[in-house]
Amino acid sequence: MAKSKSIFVCQNCGNESPKWMGKCPGCGNWNTMVEEQKMVNTQPQRAVTITNGNKPQSITEIKSSAYERYDTNIAELNRVLGGGLVKGSLTLISGDPGIGKSTLLLQAAGAIANKYGKVLYVSGEESEEQIKMRADRLEISHSNLYIVAETNIDLIEAHVNDIQPIFVIVDSIQTLFKGNISSAPGSVSQVRECSNEIMRIGKTRGIPFFIVAHVTKQGELAGPRVLEHMVDTVLHFEGERTQEFRILRTIKNRFGTTSEIGVFEMRGIGLKEVLNPSSMFLEETNFTQEGSSVIGIVEGSRPVLVEIQALVSETKAIMPRRTAVGVDVARLNLILAVLEKKLKIPFYNCDVYVNVVGGLNLDGTYGDLGMALALISSIKGEPIKLEKTLVVGEVGLTGEIRPVSFCEKIVNEGSKLGFKNFIVPLKNKDKMDMKGSNIVGISSLKECFSKVF
Ligand code: TYD
Ligand code: MG
Repeated sequence: MAKSKSIFVCQNCGNESPKWMGKCPGCGNWNTMVEEQKMVNTQPQRAVTITNGNKPQSITEIKSSAYERYDTNIAELNRVLGGGLVKGSLTLISGDPGIGKSTLLLQAAGAIANKYGKVLYVSGEESEEQIKMRADRLEISHSNLYIVAETNIDLIEAHVNDIQPIFVIVDSIQTLFKGNISSAPGSVSQVRECSNEIMRIGKTRGIPFFIVAHVTKQGELAGPRVLEHMVDTVLHFEGERTQEFRILRTIKNRFGTTSEIGVFEMRGIGLKEVLNPSSMFLEETNFTQEGSSVIGIVEGSRPVLVEIQALVSETKAIMPRRTAVGVDVARLNLILAVLEKKLKIPFYNCDVYVNVVGGLNLDGTYGDLGMALALISSIKGEPIKLEKTLVVGEVGLTGEIRPVSFCEKIVNEGSKLGFKNFIVPLKNKDKMDMKGSNIVGISSLKECFSKVF
């Protein structure tokens, strides 16, 4: 028989304890333990016997099959999903409030309803009329698109049985609840239980589900980490609410590569895909400005060019500021240390600000050299002397310039966009098929410094 038991669950990390505690022993956060009810099975465990069905098979006997996918009619969304929405998959999309999650999903729902069949949009946050108003604004209207405002997971299952949709959207997981759990919607137990239910509903019927999830103030997914482990794909929608462009990033994907990005622009009539992000990011770039350089990175399968800006100003403060937007502060500190030590440029009495234009977050080391040049350019008050230059390269601790992967792809993209000069790691240049005097291979920061200033 199942019995209900009272336990305390940390709302931050999901750690469980029989007693209330001020500080969670799991994650160390204060005041995050909340009382929840847990069902415990009091019956003794019986030995399990293998019946028919799932016996282990040799890998050579298992048939491989390609994933069947739906085209969402949004190329950038298809791209981050690895080539379309896989049938029977479970996808989580997270992002700050107002970033455009509901808008994107309504657009995808409209396209799939139009092309393939019935789509069910379950909203726990907005009424049917509110969604209808948004759909009117986006010019989405199709008899195959069903909307319901519902938060009870059992009733959602009933709607799925009733309508038999081919695709379901749940907006958002934090509003759902299961009747037999006493804790409030959004609590760890509810989120965990409702996601389990959604997985069961989707996987047993082969219906793909999209779940919207909120993020905490720190930008992490609210609720248990187990949510991320459970789903097939995790997407994160990011960007500045005050700017038009938005970036959809793959965090995890069982059906494609991660680190793929999709770029969108928020317009009056919904999200519009940006098929060539580089030209958009570089729209306002002034190549004769000091403290700026253009770098290339590779996101998933395509090269993206962005401008990196630096501002270095003298200060009398004992602890000068180091502020970085779009790059890791630790990376910035490392580059500053190498510049001080190897090029003898003093930054210790300066405030340093670095910004990646357009709201892109750079991870990886593609932007190291570009960042170093922008910093030197700002402290010297001189722009890079070469005309329209693209910079790629990782900076090592000894001041050497290390090669990066897919350098040729970045240089190709640069020449398409009209760049005149390319500064690349020497090792990359040696392997390139492309030749030309405008591609400069360098092996150390010192050498680079003498060539561009
Ligand atoms: P929304 O999809 O509701 O965000 P989320 O679900 O992530 O919270 O998007 C909300 C914002 O988008 C809102 O501030 C208005 C803006 N918006 C547009 O600019 N154009 C549009 O066509 C739509 C539908 C929304
Ligand atoms: Mg929303």
